[in-house]
Amino acid sequence: MLDEAIKKQLIHLAFEARMQAYAPYSGYCVGAAVLCDDHTIFTGCNIENASYGGTVCAERTAAFKAVSEGHTHFEAIAIVGGKKDQPVNDYAFPCGICRQVLREFADPEKMTVLVATGVNDYREFLLSELLPESFGPSMLE
Ligand code: THU
Repeated sequence: MLDEAIKKQLIHLAFEARMQAYAPYSGYCVGAAVLCDDHTIFTGCNIENASYGGTVCAERTAAFKAVSEGHTHFEAIAIVGGKKDQPVNDYAFPCGICRQVLREFADPEKMTVLVATGVNDYREFLLSELLPESFGPSMLE
């Protein structure tokens, strides 16, 4: 169980990361903060591309930053998103590809996904609720 202070910290860091979003095409800015099992935290923003398909979501930016630094076990992620220069009013749920990428590096029955509009306003899920009956690494053993 994640304590309240860690949840608030992750959400705060996701808001900070969102400020770096590069989203000139959609104008939709997302920030994410991943908590690893060794208590390290990696943040990310969405990074769009003129070829559109080259765009990467905030969640995967954070996840790949963690993995590329040797942190491959995730416990939680906080996500915030909304239109540029507007207050975050809605919960930004992770896209399907990001759910699958997170599942690669987490126990879906244990990983917490926080979608937030503020440090005091968030919804909390297990990854398994957002990606039920998932396919994962053990299937290939
Ligand atoms: N986006 C994310 O960063 N995370 C998601 O889970 C959904 C979508 C980004 C990608 C793109 O830059 C913009 O939001 C609009 O789709």
